[in-house]
Amino acid sequence: MKKNNIILIGFMGVGKGTVARALVNKSGMMAIDTDDIIESMENRKIKKIFELEGEPYFRNLEKKTAKWLAKNVKGTIISTGGGFYKQEKLNEIGKVVYLKSSFQGILDRIHSAPNAANKLKKRPLLQNMEAASKLFDERAPQYEAVADIIVDVEKKDINLIVEEILGQV
Ligand code: S3P
Repeated sequence: MKKNNIILIGFMGVGKGTVARALVNKSGMMAIDTDDIIESMENRKIKKIFELEGEPYFRNLEKKTAKWLAKNVKGTIISTGGGFYKQEKLNEIGKVVYLKSSFQGILDRIHSAPNAANKLKKRPLLQNMEAASKLFDERAPQYEAVADIIVDVEKKDINLIVEEILGQV
């Protein structure tokens, strides 16, 4: 069955939520976010889940979310947490779009946001920049490998990003 979902993957802070909202405006589709689903399921924030239960517990919730999406969601823009791309059979959920940027591009984007401190604080895996940079290097080729479509988003106008995505899905 063709599900017509668009799944946005990419590193923390690359702008998956921002791109999802812009896609909503342009396409008339609705959007959901895997971190939001997990937070509602647990009635607590990602930061708390990591603190109190640890990362493996969180990854298990991502797995549960992936199964639910594959079974129940159609015609939707799905933004994901930065580690969600590891879920098996991602392309059974929809067209996988990798939002690509350099690590420095991501840091610049976060630091230029008005709520930069909050953006950093709420992300457990962005607390240590050396570790985050290593994680980025490890994941970058993996994002590319699972993507159906790769869109370079670094320093690019949001309207252009949206056009490129909608032109390819
Ligand atoms: C994670 C990214 C976060 C969130 C969690 C783990 C990751 O989402 O799912 O903190 O492993 O990269 P964002 O990509 O929206 O920051």
